Amino acid sequence: MADYIYTMEIRLTPDQLKGVNLVQDVARAAGMTLYLTGGAIRDIISGFTIRDLDFTVQGNPLKLQKELERAGAQAVGLDEDVRTLFLVLPGNVRAEIGMAHTEHYEKAGKPPLIAPASIQEDLRRRDFTVNAMALSLNEGSRGLLLDPFNGVADIEAKLIRILHNYSFVEDPSRLIRATRFAARFHWPLEERTQQRYDSAKENNYIDHISRSAVGHEIAQMAHEDDPLNVVRALEKEGWLKVLHSHWTAAKVDTNGLSQLMKTRQQMVDLGYAPDPSPAVMYFLTAHLPEKDISDLRRQMPRKDLVEAWRDIEVRAKELAKRLTGKEAATPSRTWQLLSSARPELILFLAVTARQQAVALKVKNFLTKWRQVQQRIPLPEMTELLITPQLPEYPKIARDVFMLLLDGKLRSHTETFKFLKPFAPPPPPPPPPPKRGRGTKSAAASMASPSAPATGKKTDAAKGKGKAAALAPTVAPPAPVKIAPKPGVKAKPAKVEHKPAKPVTRPANKPAGKHHARKTPAKKGKSKKKR
Ligand code: CTP
Repeated sequence: MADYIYTMEIRLTPDQLKGVNLVQDVARAAGMTLYLTGGAIRDIISGFTIRDLDFTVQGNPLKLQKELERAGAQAVGLDEDVRTLFLVLPGNVRAEIGMAHTEHYEKAGKPPLIAPASIQEDLRRRDFTVNAMALSLNEGSRGLLLDPFNGVADIEAKLIRILHNYSFVEDPSRLIRATRFAARFHWPLEERTQQRYDSAKENNYIDHISRSAVGHEIAQMAHEDDPLNVVRALEKEGWLKVLHSHWTAAKVDTNGLSQLMKTRQQMVDLGYAPDPSPAVMYFLTAHLPEKDISDLRRQMPRKDLVEAWRDIEVRAKELAKRLTGKEAATPSRTWQLLSSARPELILFLAVTARQQAVALKVKNFLTKWRQVQQRIPLPEMTELLITPQLPEYPKIARDVFMLLLDGKLRSHTETFKFLKPFAPPPPPPPPPPKRGRGTKSAAASMASPSAPATGKKTDAAKGKGKAAALAPTVAPPAPVKIAPKPGVKAKPAKVEHKPAKPVTRPANKPAGKHHARKTPAKKGKSKKKR
């Protein structure tokens, strides 16, 4: 039997997983039965990106609001008709908690009658088989998958299938949703679903779509990984104009959008997690007049997205202004300013900055200056015993990085001069070995196990250098500590006497590896002493 909890745990991001646990704890404490439902389950099983968390409770989720907020969740909207609470969980995780309910359609085009129900009944009112599953998060049944329509089989067959023949009549927004999912996953509609879809289209059932469904579908566009593909599919089917009569693919800034998605990926690779949705909406509607944009915004249910979209241009302009001022007069100051800015704004500015100076600073922040991190002089720091064990190490490493950025440490001598005052006093030598019979071999066998001359790389040398280079903030890799040998008085660095040697590590080479090569055990020396 499939272990869905395990699959969930490895597929969710750490913040999403924390979000699931947070909601689960709050629901348990309130004695409410909770399920993870809808798209989240589909994406966990199919392997697609999990965009948000949809929870369903048996009961009124509004009762959980206070406790959720106390636990760090932010309530950003509410759909009173179906008692759905829109949330942002810590770590910027989008989530919603809905009440398990039935929808009874008395007449096509009229809103359904909503009634609280069990989870099993709730699954029956959903759009497609792949979206009609629920994973229990309750004590006693945690991990049990409710899949009454065999959604797992349709995920395996890569098919979009409605639950019953009246699906599109009852809720015509499912026509738009079917097109959106088909475009996103590249899954076709199952044969009978396709027939029902064609007939619904022919009979203009879409004219009966509710205003709230339109708002919901507009907002969904913001979270697509390839929004242009979805816009084109919706336009081809005639659904884009349902979302707004003036919206066409020609109103999209296609260049801006593709730049945005590329830069977003670049930032993700660097360890940032910018939420691109406000910027996606900006580019999707770039050539629509302000009035039409206001219409679109008015219908969207999540006001947090509306506000972020509305403000993104002004906020990015403010950041651009700061980037041209004193606050960003040097590369190191610019680095600090951008490091404290919201990733969403950096992303937006990277694509929209008009002033060359601003564009260049953002570009350097995301590319060239990262490589400077690789030039943090780890061998020299190690020789001076400036290692991560020192409480002041992060600050020293950061200061070195800032000086390197500003071109103020140009030679080995300069670097050394800067670092030397921070060198801690050398550790006291270990007590001399007791000399008894068989002195030489006894002394050899007592050699410190902490300094085996195996040439093996430490953790730091193995890969931390790369990780540090990729991290959004400066976190230089841990250098290897040179353990003093028994009987050898550890000396402070003698490197001063060496000829100045520039640090010539190739930009793409992890610093740790470089360093690991440079610290062999100095066998000859300890022998000489003895
Ligand atoms: N749902 C439905 N009919 C609709 C809208 C939603 O049945 N018209 C149900 C589906 O079970 C869906 C869930 O509500 O999975 C959540 O809806 P939504 O967040 O819009 O879609 P997701 O399936 O989560 O897909 P996405 O990946 O686009 O968020």
